[in-house]
Amino acid sequence: MESILAAIQAGASGDELVALALPDHYRAAFVRREDAEMFAGMESADKDPTNSVRVGDVATPELAPDEAYVAVMASSINFNTVWTSIFEPLPTFGFLDRYARESSWAARHALPYHVVGSDAAGVVLRVGSAVRNWKPGDRVTIHCNSVDDQDPSAHDDSMLAANQRIWGFETNFGGLADLTLVKANQLMPKPTHLTWEEAAVNALCNSTSYRMLVGRHGARMKQGDVVLVWGASGGIGGYAVQYVLNGGGTPVGVVSSAEKAELLHELGVEAVIDRTAEGYRFWSDATTQDESEWRRFGKQIRTLVGEDPDIVFEHPGRQTMGASIFAAKRGGTVVTCAATSGYMVEFDNRHFWMKLKRLIASHFANYAEAYAANRLVDQGRIQPLLSAVHPLTDVGAAARAIHRNEHEGKIGVLCLAPEEGLGIDDAEKRQRIGEERITLFRRHGA
Ligand SMILES: NC(=O)c1ccc[n+]([C@@H]2O[C@H](COP(=O)([O-])OP(=O)(O)OC[C@H]3O[C@@H](n4cnc5c(N)ncnc54)[C@H](OP(=O)(O)O)[C@@H]3O)[C@@H](O)[C@H]2O)c1
Repeated sequence: MESILAAIQAGASGDELVALALPDHYRAAFVRREDAEMFAGMESADKDPTNSVRVGDVATPELAPDEAYVAVMASSINFNTVWTSIFEPLPTFGFLDRYARESSWAARHALPYHVVGSDAAGVVLRVGSAVRNWKPGDRVTIHCNSVDDQDPSAHDDSMLAANQRIWGFETNFGGLADLTLVKANQLMPKPTHLTWEEAAVNALCNSTSYRMLVGRHGARMKQGDVVLVWGASGGIGGYAVQYVLNGGGTPVGVVSSAEKAELLHELGVEAVIDRTAEGYRFWSDATTQDESEWRRFGKQIRTLVGEDPDIVFEHPGRQTMGASIFAAKRGGTVVTCAATSGYMVEFDNRHFWMKLKRLIASHFANYAEAYAANRLVDQGRIQPLLSAVHPLTDVGAAARAIHRNEHEGKIGVLCLAPEEGLGIDDAEKRQRIGEERITLFRRHGA
């Protein structure tokens, strides 16, 4: 990939990139099928991604007509790479094997290794014969909704498609690599004012938060809504609070340290709850929730903003769902996309039905939603949450940091990009939007 990198750095045209041979191997971060039982019997918290994630050469897969090869300049770590690397709740090789049964092209994905990663920014190197809207040389970001658009179920909301998959989690050839293989309908224009690593961290979390709060399939936030956001300085939470602020709502951000609270204040979030300082214990033991803690939590929200939340942006799952359902306003909405602390959730149904609340399930975003969310980044209305940058060789350690909740915002990964700070195409626009705003999380992370 060295000659390709040199050409990209020299500003090569699409034709010049096409003239360069593609290597038959490339560097990638992956887990191995033979390691799938390596953590058997261990507590989840003790499973260490540095023991399972490897970085080495893998074979370049063949290109299907509706796909593109992208030279990955930078990528990011998402929680799904944590799940893959600790083989929870299931090894992801089962997803690849199931996919492989769909078609001869899908069969490429069932391999002894799984290349992980569901975010990337880079340069298109080749497109398949059926690709119309993208060409070699295009500078792109990649969203992770992998859908076969020849299936009718993909044509209302593609997240409802029977064959919908998350690229780099339920498919192989993910973004934590020097090269990736994606469907052309995963490509989006790279925000012109951002560096490669700033551009690479947004698509998965930003699109998810957009659908949960803004898109018509989610909670449909209105101006003036109070929105309670768990993990408000984390990946999806950090984009969620920006959407609430942009949309004329009042975010109430929950975090677990004074530093994170300070970061949220700098982002413009006035109402912040430090759950560690407050010592909330929603569960008194492994099987019993403590309603008096839900009430204390609800009271703190009312004290901060004067009313109950119209919307609760939920994702920690088991530890918080009881409190989330309780805290939502009469007629309010809890929207959830995850269960980081456990997926067997429990809540008191009386508080739910008597107060006519709603619970909405959300999962990533369709192409239109991801594109709209990417456009808001390009317009400088949503800022990247890049807080730390690792080389590709450090993917295991970066995933471990996320598993241990040691990070803020998003962790970026340099793939082909030799250093931070490269890839800005429109410096004037960057200046207009403001270096301070763009780099808030990075400065904090440093
Ligand atoms: N369905 C989808 O499409 C989709 C998309 C993206 C992410 N996800 C899922 O959403 C979850 C969050 O992703 P992320 O990228 O935002 O992860 P993240 O960057 O690790 O942020 C999650 C935040 O949740 C908070 N948290 C963790 N455990 C908690 C607990 N027991 N109680 C309260 N808060 C807790 C932490 O904030 P504090 O410690 O500061 O409170 C943490 O920063 C993950 O499970 C991920 O897999 C799903």
